[in-house]
Parts: sequence; C-alpha cells; structure tokens
Amino acid sequence: MSAFALMKILGILNFIVVQVQLETFDKLNVWTKNQFTNQEHYFLSDHRPVEHFFPDKLHDLNGNMFSFYGEWDFPYVIVVDDKVFGVVPKFIDIIIRQRCNGTTFYTQDPKFTFVTDSRYNILQFRLSFAHTLFFREQSGVFLVCPVRTERDFLQPLLKPFSMGIWIVLGALFVTCRVLQFLFPTTYRYDLVGITFFGGGGTEYEHPFKFRIVTFTLIVLLFFLSEAYNTKLISLMTFSKFYKQPETLEEFTQSNYRILASRYAAETYSDLRPKFLSLSETRREERRLGWRKNEIYCSTVDQGIALPIHVLRLKDYAVPLYVIPEPIAVDRSLVQFHQYSPFYDMFHMYFDRFNDAGLWMNLVNSIVYTLGKSKRDRQREEQFQEVIFYFDDLTCIWLLVIAGWLVSGITFFGELISWKIQNKLRVGNFFPI
Ligand SMILES: *[C@@H]1O[C@H](CO)[C@@H](O)[C@H](O)[C@H]1NC(C)=O
Repeated sequence: MSAFALMKILGILNFIVVQVQLETFDKLNVWTKNQFTNQEHYFLSDHRPVEHFFPDKLHDLNGNMFSFYGEWDFPYVIVVDDKVFGVVPKFIDIIIRQRCNGTTFYTQDPKFTFVTDSRYNILQFRLSFAHTLFFREQSGVFLVCPVRTERDFLQPLLKPFSMGIWIVLGALFVTCRVLQFLFPTTYRYDLVGITFFGGGGTEYEHPFKFRIVTFTLIVLLFFLSEAYNTKLISLMTFSKFYKQPETLEEFTQSNYRILASRYAAETYSDLRPKFLSLSETRREERRLGWRKNEIYCSTVDQGIALPIHVLRLKDYAVPLYVIPEPIAVDRSLVQFHQYSPFYDMFHMYFDRFNDAGLWMNLVNSIVYTLGKSKRDRQREEQFQEVIFYFDDLTCIWLLVIAGWLVSGITFFGELISWKIQNKLRVGNFFPI
C-alpha cells in the first residue's frame, strides 16, 4: 500500500513524504498530495516557511461528495418530498458547498447509517479520536397535552369579593339595621332594601338625615356593584380562563394522565403515577384511535413538540399544547466517521457559528418560518371566528340559576313559616 493510500484511509490530510537519500542530507525532496484534487505538491526540504508543506487541502474538494445521514427532527433535519432542509443540512451546505467547493448528499436510508461521512443523533463510542459535535442548546422530551377548555366559573363566582370587601358589606348591613333600630322615625323605610337592591321605599319626601345616609350608602354600593359587574364581564370575555399546568410540578397535581410507552414509566420515574399502564394504553388506543390525544398527554421528542407548539394543530377537536418544562433533557449531536478529515474543520466552524449567534439564528429562522405560515393561515380565519359563545355566558347562567334557587327556597320558606304561623294562630283561637 502506498503512503498516500494509507493517509487517505486514516483521514490524515497534513503529511509530507520524505525520501531519504543517505548521501545528501542537506537537501531532500519532499512532497504531498491532495486526495480530493489528486494534485501533488513538491518541495525542497529547505523550503521555508514550513506551512507551505501543508496546504489547506479542504479548501477545494473539487466537487467531492460529503454525505450525511439524519432522520426527521425539527428544526434540525426536515425532510419534505425527498428534499432535506433544516439547520444541520444548511450548516453543512454552507461549509461544504460554499467554502469547500464540494457537493453534499443527504439520506434517510438506515442502510447508509455507518458509511456516510456524518450522521445525526447516532452516538457510537469509540476509543480514539474525537468525532462528535454536541449541540450547545438543549433538546429533550416534552409532554404534549390537550388543552382543557372547561372554564372554571364557579370558583370566581363563589368568591367574588375579598375578605375586606365582605367585611365592608357586612358592616353596611349592620349599620342599616342599627340606624333603623335606633331612629325608627327617621328611617321609616327599609334601609337595607334601598341600599342593597335599590328599592323598598318611595324615593321622595324623606327627611334630610335619611337622604344623606342613603346617598352615601348608595354611592358606595354603586362602586362595589360596578366593580363586580366589570369582573364578571372580563370573566366572560377572557377566553383563557382555564389553567394549564406550566411546570411538571403543576402537572403532577393536575388530573392529566399520560399514555405509556414501553419503558416510559420507569424512565421518567418522577411522573410514574401519571402514566397509564401499558394494557390501559393499548385499550384506550383501540377505543379512541388517534383521538386519544384529545384526552391523554403523551411524551414526544422536541422535534415533534416544537411544531405542535408553533402550529397549534387544527386536526383535533381541542388544541394541543406543550408543557414548557422538558421531562428529560438531551443534547443533539453530529458524529463524523472515525478517521474523518472533516471533523476539525466542522468543529471550528461549529464553534464560530455558535459564538457569533449564527447557529441560533438558523434555528430561530426555521421555527419562525413555520410560525409565519401559521400566522398567514390565522389571518384568513380571523373573520370566520365566532366572537360570542354560549359558554361565554356560563357565569350568567350560573348566577341566574343560583338566584332562582335561592329566591325559590326563600319563597317556600316564607310560605311554610306563614302557614305554620297561621295554623298556630288558628289553633290558639279555636282550641280543640
Ligand atoms: C470546484 O469544483 C469543480 C468540480 O466540481 C471544479 O471543476 C472547479 O475547478 C472547482 N473550482 C475551484 C475554484 O477550484
């Protein structure tokens, strides 16, 4: 085997071959060869500077092909109709095509996994040589859950006021009662009825003292009731009144369940109680089909979670959302083959790209492109959206029903007590 062939197999680019002639030690012929262009460079050994012996052989790949194996992982590797896009292919194109005058080849065929020059997210540990570029940004596994759209109306309606305001209201009530008890001649009409419900007496020909007191009370009540109304209306219009868990801790307290995969429950032991068992999962999958995602959460890689997050897919009856906190953290990587002459160059450019922020810029621009296609679609739909839903008025329905119930119960209570009193009276008058 010639020295050149050996160097090529070992991926060593910077070498010189020295032919030793024992008689003439002072001046020797040295040469090197570029494996990509097959050019040979000859020098004399006293040639200076010595860097000339090692020209940048990657500078011109002469159309040589650099191959890459990677499977779909948004936004790093995106496959659309046999074409490959994404951050990693873009990065490789910039280096190989623009800087090195080479060509690139991308494949998803697992057959080629171990013959391509580089591959994505397949890590094989090797004894010597570093060949792996770990991405600086995290990726990971996320939980995708259906958005629960039941709004929580009861809670705010039952607790409309803070303790302080309740005390003020209670104090008002007591004041009215006390005033009426102390000055029955001045306050001849039902003060409670007038202040709280705006009725219960005639509004004219009141003594001055009476008018002063009712005026202050009513002003106070006016502000309180307006504030309450505003809160109610904001409840109706504020469409996102349901709470979604944002962290894993909140998630564990929610009643969401996760569809299990084979080792999921063991792998993510913190969330173990939230996982369905494997047999339950199979049963639910059979029962619901792809609609299972409208009820249960599932664990997905970032490459799938990110498009779901950006697109908010419309195929489901409920929107899906991604819990921002990952359940497992990971780093993507690109590994080069064992004697790859490209590793050092890629390593250098990878660092430069990252340090300059170009890498994140690539990532963001691809995520942004996807988001933009979604925004365009949204604009079309903007005017087709219903503004006011039946559900928006839920708080009104609740209040109306509760009001009817309370007034009904009071009414029957009064009716019964009146009946009983009547009976007692009749009984007293005509003892049997
Ligand atoms: C780039 O590569 C092509 C072969 O694909 C070659 O013909 C050409 O001379 C190279 N260009 C430069 C500037 O080296």
